[in-house]
Amino acid sequence: MKMWAGRFSKEADARVNDFNSSIRFDSRMVEQDCKGSIAHAQMLAAQGIISKEDAHLIVEGLTGLYKDLQEGTLLFDPNAEDIHMFLEEQLTKRIGDAGKRLHTARSRNDQVALDLRLYLREEASQIFDLLHELASQFTNLAGEHLETVMPGYTHLQRAQPVTFGHHLMAYANMLARDMGRLQDAAARMNFSPLGCCALAGTTYPIDRQMTAHALGFDGICQNSLDGVSDRDFCIELASCLSLVMMHLSRFSEEMVSWCSWEFKFIELDDAFATGSSIMPQKKNPDVSELIRGKTGRVYGDLMSLLSMMKSLPLAYNKDMQEDKEAIFDAVDTVKLCLTTMIPMVSTMTVLGDNMRAAAAKGFINATDCADYLTKKGIPFRDAYKCTGGLVALCIEKGLTLETLPLSDYQAACPVFGEDIYEAISLTTCVKGRTSEGGPSPQSVQKQIDWMQDFLQSH
Ligand code: ARG
Repeated sequence: MKMWAGRFSKEADARVNDFNSSIRFDSRMVEQDCKGSIAHAQMLAAQGIISKEDAHLIVEGLTGLYKDLQEGTLLFDPNAEDIHMFLEEQLTKRIGDAGKRLHTARSRNDQVALDLRLYLREEASQIFDLLHELASQFTNLAGEHLETVMPGYTHLQRAQPVTFGHHLMAYANMLARDMGRLQDAAARMNFSPLGCCALAGTTYPIDRQMTAHALGFDGICQNSLDGVSDRDFCIELASCLSLVMMHLSRFSEEMVSWCSWEFKFIELDDAFATGSSIMPQKKNPDVSELIRGKTGRVYGDLMSLLSMMKSLPLAYNKDMQEDKEAIFDAVDTVKLCLTTMIPMVSTMTVLGDNMRAAAAKGFINATDCADYLTKKGIPFRDAYKCTGGLVALCIEKGLTLETLPLSDYQAACPVFGEDIYEAISLTTCVKGRTSEGGPSPQSVQKQIDWMQDFLQSH
């Protein structure tokens, strides 16, 4: 018999029961549901709405149920409508009438909103810790590669020299912003909807501040209609997670390129690569590719949530039950990607010599050659044009700017002297880029210092 059976003259159709049921995915909020109910029961007793004895039975009963579910001596009933109904039914089976009093001055609408906030608050904090770990890892690795020259790219064309450390710090900065966004979202999420009841509050003298405080919230949702029908916190979290995945996908894409024979900038540890079923020579970056692929999945979760909430009238609508699978999937996916990426990055081998060799080939010191002329009084546009001609000459002769004879330089512009070779050496080009945020070892060290402060204070 359904809890809401009183008004009905027939059992629900079996297909409706299955269709309606959410226990197969909301049972993961069992801990939060028990905690919320315990806080609610204690508040009801403190306010004289139920007796202290009933509250005691409820607390003991729920604690026992939770323990039995953890230990596997009690199993979730797949036919239950949802985790809330299941726990209430089981509780009532064990403690009788007291169990039936638990739902006084409460509705599943505020109950589910509460459970989800409690659940996601914890998940957000775990993801924050993983981001912190990856950002620290990038920062530490950057410290080892202050002098590892590599080509910096635009349009995936070799552009100007940077270092691997500089490149890694770009990602550390993205992750630091992700951490900030996650904290902001968690702070906005941390208000209690409990006591909003179905939509219109209650005539019982409840104390919403008491339950909010007991459950570690910073305050209460101010409006009962909003409290039960708001899912901004899911959408905001999914949006933060989409940005996290976007960043991970960019790094993954670079990893895929870097471990190809065309680049060979890194070598994956055997434990973090996979082989081919047919091609014996293959060592594939499946992990990076999967992270890249799973990014689409998290974007999809965000779009599901946004579309599900679009145009919903106040207050609760059953559409909103669809929030859970989407946000759980987003959370699970991001955790899975981060926990795999962290050891993959820590075990990879950085092939600094190959990075440097690639940097020596793509005329990435051409800007420095033009700057050399500019510093000798030639207007930048003329210097640019002259250097372009020299690059074309090198390509024609199969040379680099480093190996082009001084006579060719001087034929293009008499200002060139022997010191051009020093000015365009890769080491000079990197070390000279001392502007704040740039790739010189001292500039990157400053970035690392800043990031270490950030990580220590977060
Ligand atoms: N399983 C439901 C959900 O996830 C719980 C709330 C049900 N409320 C209701 N009025 N039917 O949204």
